[in-house]
Amino acid sequence: MDHRYFDFAALPSDDRYKILSGCILPRPIALVTTRGRDGHANAAPFSFFGVLDHDPAIVALGIGAHPDGRRKDTVRNIHETGEFMVHIPDLALARAVEIAATPVDYGVDELALAMLDHERGKAIGSPRIIAAPVAMECVLHTTVPVSNTRDILIGKVSGLFIRAQAVNERLHVDPAQIDAIGRLGGRTYCTTRDLFAAPRI
Ligand SMILES: Cc1cc2nc3c(=O)[nH]c(=O)nc-3n(C[C@H](O)[C@H](O)[C@H](O)COP(=O)(O)O)c2cc1C
Repeated sequence: MDHRYFDFAALPSDDRYKILSGCILPRPIALVTTRGRDGHANAAPFSFFGVLDHDPAIVALGIGAHPDGRRKDTVRNIHETGEFMVHIPDLALARAVEIAATPVDYGVDELALAMLDHERGKAIGSPRIIAAPVAMECVLHTTVPVSNTRDILIGKVSGLFIRAQAVNERLHVDPAQIDAIGRLGGRTYCTTRDLFAAPRI
């Protein structure tokens, strides 16, 4: 079968984004909430996101600047407070994810725009979205500035909320109860409803 080859050194940034975001499928979505130094709430989704380790429990977010060069509110708030909450959105939260992604001025609360009820975290001050099946309390571990417009923020998970009916006594998590969505290329999303089990070899 034929393959095309892309030399990333020769590819403009936007095209690299198109290729990578079209190929790395699906990407989990972190719906991240933070607070500014003055206490206002903020929410935004990120799909350059993953869990990288469990001991310690480490998550990472790849966050670029806005097209006008302004640093995203999430980065600013995490650097101001050292804290953030990562939610795993389910299908019911898909619209809220899009609302939270709209570019608004610093200080505008996307949780209010998306009409998401929330309460204070247990160990950190970032808001917890009550409707999300999973919420992870994170403290900033390291920021890796990979360019002058893009940062990778590495967070250490200090606690995790999960819908009680989604986890059993043996700590097995039922994916049907999480009903997570993933991001594909462009404006396309997927569900996690089509499952198969691989036989042990
Ligand atoms: C599903 C989804 C995933 C996104 N993933 C990223 C990402 O990984 N990195 C990024 O910089 N922006 C990403 N965005 C765009 C941000 O959510 C958007 O720029 C948002 O306005 C940032 O908000 P903030 O300024 O409140 O932090 C994504 C948007 C959507 C809808």
